[in-house]
Amino acid sequence: MPSRNPCSCNGEIPFDAGRRKVIQIGAAGFVSPWALAPSLALAKPMVGDRLVEDDAEGTPAPLRASDLRPGKPLLAFPFDAIKGEVRSDSRLNKIVLMRFAEADMNAETRARSAGGVVAFSAICTHQGCDVKTWLPKEQALVCFCHSTKFLLLEGGSVASGPALRSLPSLPLSLDGDQLVIAGPFSAPAGGTTA
Ligand code: FES
Repeated sequence: MPSRNPCSCNGEIPFDAGRRKVIQIGAAGFVSPWALAPSLALAKPMVGDRLVEDDAEGTPAPLRASDLRPGKPLLAFPFDAIKGEVRSDSRLNKIVLMRFAEADMNAETRARSAGGVVAFSAICTHQGCDVKTWLPKEQALVCFCHSTKFLLLEGGSVASGPALRSLPSLPLSLDGDQLVIAGPFSAPAGGTTA
């Protein structure tokens, strides 16, 4: 499954929905691509969805908490296990998973985690690049487009860089050891003009 990183995005929010679209947006305004493309609403992560690796081939295998290694981000998409469908039509559904010691999380993050695993939108809230590189010394996830650093242990808040919003978080639960989506994103996924 292709993973493109749309970093040449001055004043634009790029996203894929089967075909690539680029939405021009006005100054300082957040635009929800969901609102602009209502047909994508059904593709949003749903409560009860499992998670599968973003580049999984063949029959998707729902991820387990034990599949995550501390310090190793893993990109995933929601998976409707009943229909056998991966919700990958929109890159706004891309999720970054990480596993931590629960004692290291703040209360907000711990409450939305399951089995020590946290889930956040993998789409930078600045201009929409993928966010997937962990900086162990800084305990932050960095977006290499313009170097925003997000603190996943502190609810995805911005530590530094041009992004103005935290990474939206996605609450998880467990079914056995399988990771299950327990609610919607805490805020719309996607980029914001700065
Ligand atoms: S897109 Fe600019 S910091 Fe991520």
